[in-house]
Amino acid sequence: MSRPDEYRRSKWTRDHASRLRRTPDTVAPIIYPPERAISEEYHLWDTWFLRERDGSIAEVDGYRVAFSLSASSSLLPGKRHDEARIRYFYSTDGREWTYGGPIFPEGEAFGSRQWAGSALLDDDGTVYAYYTAAGHRDEPELTYEQRICVGAGGTVSTDEHGLAIDGPWEQSVLFEPDGVRYQTQEQSNRQNGPIYTFRDPWFFEDPATGESYLLFEGNTPIDDPDPERTYNGCIGIARSETGDPTDWQPLDPILDAERVNQELERPHIVVRNGRYYLFTPSHLHTFAPGLSGFDALYGFVADSVFGPYEPLNETGLVVANPENAPFQAYSWLAFSHGDEILVTSFFNYFDLNGLSLDDVALLPEPEQFRRFGGTYAPTLRLQVGGDRTRIWGELDYGQIPLERESLTPPDHIRYRGSGGDGEDEDGNY
Ligand code: FRU
Repeated sequence: MSRPDEYRRSKWTRDHASRLRRTPDTVAPIIYPPERAISEEYHLWDTWFLRERDGSIAEVDGYRVAFSLSASSSLLPGKRHDEARIRYFYSTDGREWTYGGPIFPEGEAFGSRQWAGSALLDDDGTVYAYYTAAGHRDEPELTYEQRICVGAGGTVSTDEHGLAIDGPWEQSVLFEPDGVRYQTQEQSNRQNGPIYTFRDPWFFEDPATGESYLLFEGNTPIDDPDPERTYNGCIGIARSETGDPTDWQPLDPILDAERVNQELERPHIVVRNGRYYLFTPSHLHTFAPGLSGFDALYGFVADSVFGPYEPLNETGLVVANPENAPFQAYSWLAFSHGDEILVTSFFNYFDLNGLSLDDVALLPEPEQFRRFGGTYAPTLRLQVGGDRTRIWGELDYGQIPLERESLTPPDHIRYRGSGGDGEDEDGNY
């Protein structure tokens, strides 16, 4: 296995990406508006779960906890990133979610707004809420600097009324781009390229070594004015030598997408059968000139956390929105459940009839509201074998089955009478 000081970052290449095509195994079923959104009061988008060190979803006295980026549902959907705050929801059955409250008291967290992160329930019961600080507190105008932060020291409690997460939190900025391994905003501005990224910390404990890591979305510094080269998304990694969840040293990126894609968002790893599946959602509009991809979940597989990673399904495509609903979901998050991998996301824009995400802002405001989901999408079921994946079914909107709940094969598989194990002729699944 590669040691952290020896690895060479893996590449998502133009050759991989130039072969991106939707396939029956990678296209998600169409999403229809749900009868009821998770919240009437808030738009909800990027979502993650309270997890244990080993990555499993925590169950506290029978409750599971979801954290979502949120903004008032009276806000124009396209403006939500400017006012994002993290709010939490809890559930006993993994279907009905009850609103708990904002994770941090007003004005306490870093940033003028908070973007995606992850949440660790440590073995001693302490909650570490990782997040991205976007901009700066109390700034007169919106700015876009991004820093990786944590609120440490929270506690979870339950009583007959439900679940609560409380502080006091110790807020700290964990690290910022150094300009050598990771591009700073200033370097990115000088290049005049697409908007820079440095965000979305995701806690991961390597089962092979017990070492703790934070993955995150970044860009690699590039000193080259070629417009193709300004697309420089990468998946960053930091290590905690002591295991202390507040003490991180950024290392070289584990994967980069130079000249391929600008944004490798919310990177996360699922370990199965000793293999490391690295997932990242990305957008159609962040592919470099000359390439065309999709708003989709992309993935890679390796034998260790440091790679070398190969793209899944040859190109990296794992879950694509359908061609006639290309922006219906985003911000996919994969996690293990029994023999399969489940993938959550949020219901994004629908009924766009050929409009792009940028065009949405040109629609009359009531239409912008009408065509935005802003709630949890149906959970997808994925089969994974080696470097192949296949969407084979879906669950309810925002459904997170309990760990002990075993899922029956999807209906179409049962009706087909394949025996339900989903295995193909090659025995891949
Ligand atoms: C993905 C994303 C994240 C970011 C958030 C901001 O949906 O771009 O990378 O943290 O949205 O709203």
